[in-house]
Amino acid sequence: MSTQHNVWVSRPLFPEVLDQLAQYVEVQAETSERKHSAVELREKLASVDGAIISLSDRIDGEVIAGNRRLRAIANLAVGYNNLDVPALTAAGILATNTPDVLNETTADYAWALLLAAARRVSSAERWLRAGHWRGGMRFDDWLGLDVHGKTLGILGMGRIGQAIARRAYGFGMPVLYHNRSRLPIDTERECRAAWVEKTELLKRADHLMLVLPYNAQSHHAIGASELALMKPTAVLVNIARGGIVDDAALAVALREGRIAAAGLDVFEGEPVVHPALRELDNAVLSPHIASASADTRRAMAQLAADNLLAALGHGPNAGYPPSLLNPDARKGHETKA
Ligand code: 8YV
Repeated sequence: MSTQHNVWVSRPLFPEVLDQLAQYVEVQAETSERKHSAVELREKLASVDGAIISLSDRIDGEVIAGNRRLRAIANLAVGYNNLDVPALTAAGILATNTPDVLNETTADYAWALLLAAARRVSSAERWLRAGHWRGGMRFDDWLGLDVHGKTLGILGMGRIGQAIARRAYGFGMPVLYHNRSRLPIDTERECRAAWVEKTELLKRADHLMLVLPYNAQSHHAIGASELALMKPTAVLVNIARGGIVDDAALAVALREGRIAAAGLDVFEGEPVVHPALRELDNAVLSPHIASASADTRRAMAQLAADNLLAALGHGPNAGYPPSLLNPDARKGHETKA
């Protein structure tokens, strides 16, 4: 069934998901990957009823000012620091994200970064590929840090943090966490995790993973003074957002051996990466791919499409987007055509 609704997809998406959208709405999908300026976003969003957008598309009050048509924005991510949710709510625009479907894949990747950074996987591979493995190798070369049996610290204990914590049991690692609010006791037990103050977490964790959402409070939650509290043998992993770590301070701490290593999937100002980090051999760097398994990226795209269709009143969940961020937007939304 076709209707009058038009939607814009701001980045290339799996064809089968686009086909599914096209069963209900007119779809205009970008075929190349790029960041859109505020002016472009404003123009695009003025001519559609809904959009699937990515983290690099910042949707704020200015972008939607005066837009009488737009009814729904589906973010292709669980984090939504690119959305001004209060502004969308005030404008009666439903906003959705992609929670849960990426928890396990993202948790796997956090462990991949921890293991790679602790055991020097990337630098060993660079050395091998450069042809340095010629004669014998010293018995005390390539010494890394153990992961198993160490204390794992987790800062931010939402659903991804909990998925990370559950994996720690297999490595025989006690888990400490800090979160604004303590988890229910049953969840703590299931994750075998104990709540501590942030300072204690920084001091006691042998390795630390950052899994908190990015906002004004978490900006530079890890800076020079926090890094100074950590153990010199600690590995820091950031799979959350750039901006949570002060990258310049981290580069200094890594260069001076104040912490041992870092595994980083996200960066302040990405895709630009702080030049000092790029030069460090004890930093494992990846281009924001923690959720990028074939199954999970498909599931995220599918959830974003389901959300958008439902928000526009189509499909099996019509009227009830599975992951609506701003139910208060409904009032303004219902008055739209
Ligand atoms: C991105 C993420 O969505 O979900 C999030 O919050 O950061 C990632 O899963 C992904 O990298 C696509 O940009």
